[in-house]
Amino acid sequence: MTVVLLSLYVCLALVHNAVMIKDAPEGHSHPKEDHDGAKPDRCKGIEFDAITPDEKGNTFFFKGDHLWKGFSGPAELSNSIFKELDDYHHLGHVDAAFRMHHQDDLSVHDHIYFFLDDKVFSYYNYTLEQGYPVEIQQEFPGIPSHLDAAVECPKGECITDSVLFFKENDIYSFDIKTKSVKQKVWTHLSNCTSAFRWLEHYYCFHGYNFTRFHPVSGEVTGTYPKDARNYFMRCSEGFGHGGGARKQRCSEVKLSAISTDDKGRTYAFQDAMYLRLDTHRDGSHHFPISRLWKEISGVVDAVFSHGDNMYIIQGGQVYIYKSAAHYTLIEGYPKPLKDELGIDGPVDAAFLCPNQHIVTIIQGQKMYNIDLAATPRAVKSERPIPFPKIDAGYCDADGVKVFIGPEYYSYESPMILALGKIKPAPQKISPEKFSCEE
Ligand SMILES: *[C@@H]1O[C@H](CO)[C@@H](O)[C@H](O)[C@H]1NC(C)=O
Ligand SMILES: *[C@@H]1O[C@H](CO)[C@@H](O)[C@H](O)[C@H]1NC(C)=O
Ligand SMILES: *[C@@H]1O[C@H](CO)[C@@H](O)[C@H](O)[C@H]1NC(C)=O
Repeated sequence: MTVVLLSLYVCLALVHNAVMIKDAPEGHSHPKEDHDGAKPDRCKGIEFDAITPDEKGNTFFFKGDHLWKGFSGPAELSNSIFKELDDYHHLGHVDAAFRMHHQDDLSVHDHIYFFLDDKVFSYYNYTLEQGYPVEIQQEFPGIPSHLDAAVECPKGECITDSVLFFKENDIYSFDIKTKSVKQKVWTHLSNCTSAFRWLEHYYCFHGYNFTRFHPVSGEVTGTYPKDARNYFMRCSEGFGHGGGARKQRCSEVKLSAISTDDKGRTYAFQDAMYLRLDTHRDGSHHFPISRLWKEISGVVDAVFSHGDNMYIIQGGQVYIYKSAAHYTLIEGYPKPLKDELGIDGPVDAAFLCPNQHIVTIIQGQKMYNIDLAATPRAVKSERPIPFPKIDAGYCDADGVKVFIGPEYYSYESPMILALGKIKPAPQKISPEKFSCEE
């Protein structure tokens, strides 16, 4: 196992560099004049009413009749972007908001829902949908009025596509499809005045602090509460994490593993960190591997998915995780790689193409095929590959990609990688996808 130092780019403050903030929507008139003196300053410590991303990945923070767009930028009037919000009630605030995740129903997917008093408003493209607002119970039966907070929780993070609603001590887990409600009380969690999902992480905001929690169990791990000004906004004086962190240069990226699963979740691993690659709409950030896969410490060598199982290979050991609402290590693991797959570690890369059961393991200049449907598992075939050593590889519907430092090579299939007499031109790891700097 290589000893790798955590590089400087690993910055645990969400706010520094790794966050991509999108541009403001254009073409929205300002129906109300702004009164400059009344502009709140989020660096003074604000208890937000609601926080939600929009369909483009912009995050909106709400307080009173103002909002902030993104992790930096000034306060503006909420009704300059969401025009109708106070035409109905003149309440001057929202109670809660979330972005709907419902891929089976594209007529509501990615809509932003605002809760005011006993009403719910649905917006898409900054436009109030026809027929709104409606009574909360008409659209979300069993959910009380005068909410404190709301947050989406897609299947894979919750058991089913759900919304978590918060009111005082109570949590209502609303199943979007069946419209059934489960009520919970998480006494260890503060009463949330707003809640936010960011890159599969769930945050309860209370006062100017926030606490990260697990959306199913409510479990809080790590040291919380933390001051939101150090993470979710750019406040110059006295906030932030030392400011020494910088984004990694794309030319310095050297993956240790990369994997995509049948739900399209793609993870890149480097050092002791992972980066989710398919959620960059909402920004991107490196998190410790142990955040999602508790039992793993240090660098991993290869990762692949087979059905609901994720295989993580480290040295001569393999960990198998069941992926449901979260990744759970299957009992009896880690096991020696030799016992599980019939091959000795360490390995350089491993991948499985969609709907296949033959895993390809790469070790030096050799590629081995192992049939996961056979018992006992054993190497079925062995072929040379045209590279002395690769760092990582994965296979999806578009074929195989193998990574060597900051470059990768694309092949239609593992067979073509092995037989390929002509090396394809290398492609460069892109800043957009890998959250690195040119
Ligand atoms: C979004 O709204 C703008 C103006 O309000 C409009 O020009 C544009 O066509 C809309 N886009 C979609 C996808 O509906
Ligand atoms: C949370 O809500 C409960 C129920 O209304 C209330 O009794 C409690 O005081 C609240 N806690 C805080 C810290 O505000
Ligand atoms: C925020 O959290 C700190 C501990 O990290 C605590 O001392 C402080 O009272 C909290 N403040 C608010 C307003 O919640």
